[in-house]
Amino acid sequence: MVAFALEKMPINLLHSLVHRVEQGWDPISHEYADKYAEAAWHEERVALIERLEFFAGGFKGKRVLDLGGGPGQYSALMAQRGARVTWHDVSREYERVARVHAQAAGVSIDFSLGYLEEAAKFEPQSFDIIFCRLCWSYCRSDRRFARLLYTLLRPRGVGYIECNTPEFARPRRLRKLSYWLNEHLWWKIGHPLPPHGRITKLVQKYPFETMIVDYSSELSDVLLFVKGTV
Ligand SMILES: C[S@@+](CC[C@H](N)C(=O)[O-])C[C@H]1O[C@@H](n2cnc3c(N)ncnc32)[C@H](O)[C@@H]1O
Repeated sequence: MVAFALEKMPINLLHSLVHRVEQGWDPISHEYADKYAEAAWHEERVALIERLEFFAGGFKGKRVLDLGGGPGQYSALMAQRGARVTWHDVSREYERVARVHAQAAGVSIDFSLGYLEEAAKFEPQSFDIIFCRLCWSYCRSDRRFARLLYTLLRPRGVGYIECNTPEFARPRRLRKLSYWLNEHLWWKIGHPLPPHGRITKLVQKYPFETMIVDYSSELSDVLLFVKGTV
């Protein structure tokens, strides 16, 4: 009972109530946003988007949600291939960078600032594709975030989730405790990466048509799936 309450009311919720984007709070500095963006324009991003394009049967006319979209390197590529992209992220600094790049790429993107959980403002089943790369750990509850992501996807919509594993972070001391609490009690303090395999199990609780799970690297879990229709 106590464990359940703590999962629902974690310290991260209090943090998000105090640190508000609309009041100018930003977890990312100007310098860091520019530095991350510089490294983000690598060639593998094109290969990933091409793979997703093939799996989803094209981007043309599709409504895409780029969750935790960061500098927008994927948003821009999907928009260039004809998708109507909504970028959603908590950082105004990344929005600044993503806007510059969208303009340079000659595409228009919808920008939405807010915490991951605030994507609940979008209508259920309103996206054909949800792209969630390297931001899952920032959600307040793995269970509820999986449900939200699934809810926002239309039936037969495609989900792409890529998330580093605890092996990637190799946490020590206090962070190790935060990882232990998340793994065993589902309490989130800070942003522990979910245990290997957890995201897949959470998504598999819901109906799906196809699922491709890539565990080829012990450093990250990659999941591509098609939502079921029932
Ligand atoms: C490692 S970056 C990944 C960016 C991009 N998806 C990529 O693949 O390069 C993590 C992103 O999550 C965003 N983020 C962190 N905490 C967040 C939160 N609570 N709600 C929404 N976005 C968040 C950051 O601003 C950042 O853009």
